[in-house]
Amino acid sequence: MATGWIADVFVRDLLRDPQERGVSDITHSIMAVASATSQARSEKFISDTGIPAPCAAYGSYEQLVADANVDVVYVATPHSHHFQNVMLVLEAGKNVLCEKAFTVNAAQAKILCETARKKNLFLMEAVWTRYFPLSVQIRNLIKQGAIGEVLRVTADNSFGDPVEERWGTEHRMVNKDLAGGCLLDLGIYSLTWVFQTLYHTLPREQRKPPSAISAHMALYHLTGADEATTILLSFPTSTPSNLPHPGQSHAVAMTNLRISTDPDEANTARPAIRIQGTKGEIQVDGPAFRPERYRIIPKKGAGEFKEVECPFPGNGKGMFWEADEVARCLRAGKLESDTLPWEESIVIMEVMDEVRRQGGLTYPDRIESTVYPTRL
Ligand SMILES: NC(=O)c1ccc[n+]([C@@H]2O[C@H](COP(=O)([O-])OP(=O)(O)OC[C@H]3O[C@@H](n4cnc5c(N)ncnc54)[C@H](OP(=O)(O)O)[C@@H]3O)[C@@H](O)[C@H]2O)c1
Repeated sequence: MATGWIADVFVRDLLRDPQERGVSDITHSIMAVASATSQARSEKFISDTGIPAPCAAYGSYEQLVADANVDVVYVATPHSHHFQNVMLVLEAGKNVLCEKAFTVNAAQAKILCETARKKNLFLMEAVWTRYFPLSVQIRNLIKQGAIGEVLRVTADNSFGDPVEERWGTEHRMVNKDLAGGCLLDLGIYSLTWVFQTLYHTLPREQRKPPSAISAHMALYHLTGADEATTILLSFPTSTPSNLPHPGQSHAVAMTNLRISTDPDEANTARPAIRIQGTKGEIQVDGPAFRPERYRIIPKKGAGEFKEVECPFPGNGKGMFWEADEVARCLRAGKLESDTLPWEESIVIMEVMDEVRRQGGLTYPDRIESTVYPTRL
């Protein structure tokens, strides 16, 4: 659903041979493409990306969700539209993989999950980074206690753009009508690192949402969307042992449109993410959404320094791993992914709601609406 930038990247990844990444239990078939703009745009997308026949080209999303050949719809519209678009798919009885940010607010996310549950359909927020082998390895290292008890995580996903020239006022990155701003678009990755390390590495029954959140936001003078957001979080837990003392862990999640995590784009700045434990730390070089390298730095005398490269097979972007997860979940009859359960997507949306409240960032009522259908 949609023929924009990320849909193109996703489709090209999906068309790659799964064997290239050592996968032989599943394959993906792209049965249809839909554009809200025109059928001609879908046809061009199919030919540009080289999707093999048979693949239907539709000029509306309604036609896509009515196609009997479609098992699962990848929603790649701006996040302002996710709630309405995902509801359309679920109401038509189809499974969904929806781009990040899941929705504009937590109330919308809850309704999507409730609807999927009621209709016995699969639903997943497409946070591709969680499915990279690098992320899996790091979560396992934490769970195994490789750096002791993790007490602090810092994560940054910042771009360093000339904002006025690059994004203007209409682009979805800064346009409030399209839920623009760096928190929902880029900050979600900083929060992903905080949550997949401090929260997700605990057994499910021990996971607790942050007990305190402090956030500062700077709003873009031309549109009012956030151009810089810094969040301080306290969790009432630590990982992996969840010890009574100190009984909490801290995180800093950052995102910024004007300054960069990696200014020379040559990794001179080194880690975008630091995961700090009592026996050492894991550093992950950016970009936070698609890292290729991490280091384990043990405390003095507590082990060997190790740097691990995690290249992307066949120069793919790496979106195929989340698609593989969807296929395996569907095959197993699951409604949600264990790697990003509905509850965790909702808790993260709740954090972003609170950050926006503290930062004074509001969106137009129609895109915050929980009424379906609402015309956007
Ligand atoms: N996972 C990642 O790494 C990643 C990277 C970039 C973006 N994203 C997410 O993917 C989503 C889309 O981002 P994108 O960069 O692909 O955006 P984009 O290039 O602007 O494409 C969005 C597409 O959505 C459709 N659309 C429907 N209603 C629209 C409206 N009112 N205004 C604009 N477009 C509308 C359009 O396709 P049709 O006209 O063909 O329907 C448009 O081409 C966002 O939620 C974003 O956060 C994820």
